Amino acid sequence: MKKQLLSIMMVMVAGISFAQDAKMNAFITTLMSKMTLEEKIGQLNLITPGWGIPTGSVVSTDVEGKIKSGKVGGLFGVIGADKVKQAQDLVMTHSRLKIPLMFGSDVIHGHKTTFPIPLGISCSWDTALIRQSAVLAAKEATADGLNWAFSPMVDIARDPRWGRVAEGSGEDPFLGSQIARAMVLGYQGNDLASQYTLLACVKHFALYGASEGGRDYNSVDMSRNKMYNEYLAPYKAAVDAGVATVMSSFNDVEGVPASGSKWLLTDLLRKDWKFKGMIVSDYTSINEMSNHRLGDLQAVSAQAIKAGLDMDMVGEGYLSTLKKSLQEKKVAMADIDRACRMVLEAKYKLGLFTDPYRYINPARSTEILTADNRAFARKIASESFVLLRNERNTLPLKPAQRVALIGPLANDKSNMLGTWAVSGDPQMSVPVMTGMQTQTAKMVNLSFAKGANITDDTLLAQKANVFGLRVDIDKRTPEAMLEEALAIARSSDVVVAVVGEASEMSGEAASRGYITLPASQQRLLQALYKTGKPVVVVLLSGRPLVLTGAIEGAASVLQVWHAGIEAGNAIADVLYGVVNPSGKLSMSFPYAVGQIPVYYAQKTTGRPQDPGNKFSSKYLDMPNEPLFPFGYGLSYTRFEYSDLQLSADKLNPGGSITATVTVTNKGSVDGAEVVQLYIEDEVRTITPPAKELKGFRKLMLKAGESSRVEFRIDTELLKFWNANLKWVAEPGLFKVHVGSNSRDTQFKALALN
Ligand code: BGC
Repeated sequence: MKKQLLSIMMVMVAGISFAQDAKMNAFITTLMSKMTLEEKIGQLNLITPGWGIPTGSVVSTDVEGKIKSGKVGGLFGVIGADKVKQAQDLVMTHSRLKIPLMFGSDVIHGHKTTFPIPLGISCSWDTALIRQSAVLAAKEATADGLNWAFSPMVDIARDPRWGRVAEGSGEDPFLGSQIARAMVLGYQGNDLASQYTLLACVKHFALYGASEGGRDYNSVDMSRNKMYNEYLAPYKAAVDAGVATVMSSFNDVEGVPASGSKWLLTDLLRKDWKFKGMIVSDYTSINEMSNHRLGDLQAVSAQAIKAGLDMDMVGEGYLSTLKKSLQEKKVAMADIDRACRMVLEAKYKLGLFTDPYRYINPARSTEILTADNRAFARKIASESFVLLRNERNTLPLKPAQRVALIGPLANDKSNMLGTWAVSGDPQMSVPVMTGMQTQTAKMVNLSFAKGANITDDTLLAQKANVFGLRVDIDKRTPEAMLEEALAIARSSDVVVAVVGEASEMSGEAASRGYITLPASQQRLLQALYKTGKPVVVVLLSGRPLVLTGAIEGAASVLQVWHAGIEAGNAIADVLYGVVNPSGKLSMSFPYAVGQIPVYYAQKTTGRPQDPGNKFSSKYLDMPNEPLFPFGYGLSYTRFEYSDLQLSADKLNPGGSITATVTVTNKGSVDGAEVVQLYIEDEVRTITPPAKELKGFRKLMLKAGESSRVEFRIDTELLKFWNANLKWVAEPGLFKVHVGSNSRDTQFKALALN
């Protein structure tokens, strides 16, 4: 009965959307019949007047003239309902067909209420919370006139030298897919025409996270096998969740730049995955195909549109060459019509043809930076923190303790938001010192010293200061700063050292070859350890850093990423135990740069590591294992896993079993734990990863409380892409692992018949 009802409802939903599609198609067909070739090509042009922060070296010229003459389809880098209105007015008053502009922006982790960087958010493993972050970001961005977010970025990233690891969800395709879905659903809701939702844009399609050597914009090469099994899933998850737009990536894939790859954009994305929306290039990525040596601007623009790319970001290759290519029969009218239709459909879905001013409502400015949004930012920030070490229960701090708060990031506003906070105002963020002062108002003596510069390297500082002062090199000598810090450390009970990277030391075009703490801060930490006081290291960074050596003397280490506008309050919440940390790493922390890429799902090799065997796969001078593995994170309480059971030890094709485990909070405080399910395939026709995440649950347990956690395992969960790129489950033996991180698990054997 239930099933019947469900299928009737599904037919109804499909029916409605079919009727709506037909209405949209008819509307667009009529509109396109009135459009000149130039106007159609104009719709494919996405430009930025450079009123925001440009992310490439090119900024568009004569934007106003182009808008008036119908040569622009959309703008980005225009933020604020008033500015958006000015631009929309131009098109509505001056252009012939008055086709509304769409307005995009890099709404990456919140809008004006900046949330933690995405890598941080992913460490919450809390998809409901992550989805809500996108709901709120969409609400604020639309209140500011925007209707298109260039997010989520879902590139799997296993090389922390790459600065853009900050923007994604780390190394794992399963976790990445869940987050991709949550973000898309959050941004888009179930009605794109609502004034509170906007178009999401999954990026960067595809494989951008695998840039060689972790150097941004670099080449990518990998087998289809690896692509399908390890890299493509999060993009696909976004498509399945109904993402409205896709952004092509800068890199090449199998020797063809993604922006000109018909295989990627048409065969895989549109045909195999049934993507129905619009594809936009990355910033001048079509033009850059010339640097990739695929020909001049006319040739690469023709290649891109034929490959399936609809909208050209900033480069204006479409605007300046497509007409000529059409005349010379290098592109077909059908290519231009398809691309134009895709852009118009996106606008139609936003409801812009009904009301071009739908997202321009100055009265909604009160919905930005509300107390509720800030409270949410504080909550999601504290959930993104990962407690990496906590010896002798140094944390949480006790109210009576005298705290020496030390470090270049301890009383800083300019580095709290992190990379890609284009609409955030660093001055509105809460420094750690303020958060701690508020938290401890009547309880402790808090003394502060900067102790060191973020870096003493003026060249690095200059590079980190491109978007404003992030690294402020002190007038005092490093020695004088250190002395001041040591003096307050000596007269304290505990030292809290707030160290790490400046915001712009990660993000786009911010790859690093040495991913350690800068020397100035290493020196500070070593000197603090020598005081003999317990040192709590609070670590801000946009990537997993190599911490070997740097944290050896630390009693506690709390990884807080760049935590957003409420950083200081959230950090104080966790340091004082108001919030018990529960984040788990979404990316391994390497032991040394020489191990990179290092990730938990690495294959076992034909000569698995064996300390007793010289001729096994290992390094002479360092371990194979990362310093902190994927999934790792401590709590102020302790969780015990026991009694792992499978409902059956054999599974028939198409069937399912359950794995259950008891998780007990053995400590004296309440806490949340992320229970993780991994599957290890013991026999496969192609080499499998050592194990793969296939499920997780975040649960809250009161002190002393136990819970039985259940995972359903069906054949689908055991499938992979085989050598012929078929999605199959092969009979044989598996191990079902459950545990608190990718390293510390217990398992039971399972056979697939
Ligand atoms: C980035 C994109 C971004 C775009 C627009 C590019 O440089 O790669 O992620 O959305 O700029 O700002």
